[in-house]
Amino acid sequence: MAKTLNVAMIGYGFMGRAHSNAYRQVSQFFDLKYLPVLKVACARDPEKIQKFAENWGWESTETDWRKVVERKDVDAIDIGSPNNTHREIALAAAAAGKTILCEKPLAMNLAEASEMTEAVERAGVANFVWFNYRRVPAITLAKQIVDEGRLGRVFHYRAYYLQDWTISPDLPQGGQTLWRLDKDVAGSGVTGDLISHAVDTAIWLNGPVTKVVGDVETFIKERPLQDAPDEKKAVEIDDACQFLCRFANGSLGLFESTRYARGRKNKNGFEINGEHASIAFDLEDPHRLLFFDHNDPSHLQGWRSIHVTGFEHPYMKNWWVPGTTIGYEHTFINSLADFLKGLETGTPAGPTFRDALPTQAVCDAVLDSAEVGQWQMVVPV
Ligand SMILES: NC(=O)c1ccc[n+]([C@@H]2O[C@H](COP(=O)([O-])OP(=O)(O)OC[C@H]3O[C@@H](n4cnc5c(N)ncnc54)[C@H](O)[C@@H]3O)[C@@H](O)[C@H]2O)c1
Repeated sequence: MAKTLNVAMIGYGFMGRAHSNAYRQVSQFFDLKYLPVLKVACARDPEKIQKFAENWGWESTETDWRKVVERKDVDAIDIGSPNNTHREIALAAAAAGKTILCEKPLAMNLAEASEMTEAVERAGVANFVWFNYRRVPAITLAKQIVDEGRLGRVFHYRAYYLQDWTISPDLPQGGQTLWRLDKDVAGSGVTGDLISHAVDTAIWLNGPVTKVVGDVETFIKERPLQDAPDEKKAVEIDDACQFLCRFANGSLGLFESTRYARGRKNKNGFEINGEHASIAFDLEDPHRLLFFDHNDPSHLQGWRSIHVTGFEHPYMKNWWVPGTTIGYEHTFINSLADFLKGLETGTPAGPTFRDALPTQAVCDAVLDSAEVGQWQMVVPV
């Protein structure tokens, strides 16, 4: 018997759209007991949220998330609003006994993330963080290869997440659409926004990070305010962040993230070098996983480019026929499918809030390290 899950979506922006699409499609492509119902969409502007709700098929709208949390006909709250809202909404939703799906970064910092984790665990509510890149089939395949032990001892993990959209000094900060440049709303710059994705993937694939030494830079020191273009304010977020780290398994890590890599729109990738094999991934070629196996006969050795579109590959049997591809939006549908399957089986799909804590701890340690100019131990969580 199908069970309905009445969902409330907070935020109608980039993630509001990506998640709405996932709620609409997941039951068509995955065989699930839980059927999401698009119950209510919420944001502060009544006209915009009404238009959004009509476009995506949400049954109703609200302009105050507190009302949404109080509604008896809502089972799950999906937090797709800016980072400084995550904590308050999650705490209220947990107290109201709601299932919670929260966008990344889970919180502004580790202290907030820990408080949120304690709250959902105390309330016993299902919870999930949308680190969607885990569900790119090629990255999930990388996890399978690692878990099969094909790499042997890991020596190196390197990752990058590069964009180029903030290079112009005329770009304002803050306001409705540029909150990512406002520290009070975003918490940090590329560290929380971009490198957190790379760190989540790294911890998932290569285990805990024990210590870091980081460096950050704010290239444009002052920007006009989006809401008051004649006024300028100091920029407080990190425009670029790089760090070295040590993993608990003894491997060395190297991470780079920036919004100043001209020509790089969303270049997100990694390479892992092990004793027996290496794997590499780049989101600009998302269906490919590169794999080098030293166990191959020496005259045949070389990097294989696996086209991750076969029925034997993660998630792909739920989509089209081998050789055809899926896109960015499917990473959210795959994530949602796993989350709903977790509700059904009682084995929660990760990352839960608790699973996301180590990423938050690494991000905090990197920013601390950049400030003091020294290695920092990552708080074990
Ligand atoms: N998983 C990913 O790859 C990914 C990608 C982009 C953004 N994100 C995360 O998703 C979240 C939202 O980012 P976005 O790009 O969708 O932002 P956005 O600016 O496109 O949309 C934010 C939405 O939140 C709404 N909002 C703001 N304050 C609110 C409040 N108090 N109550 C209700 N609604 C409110 C805004 O009206 C807007 O609809 C952020 O935490 C961000 O880090 C994750």
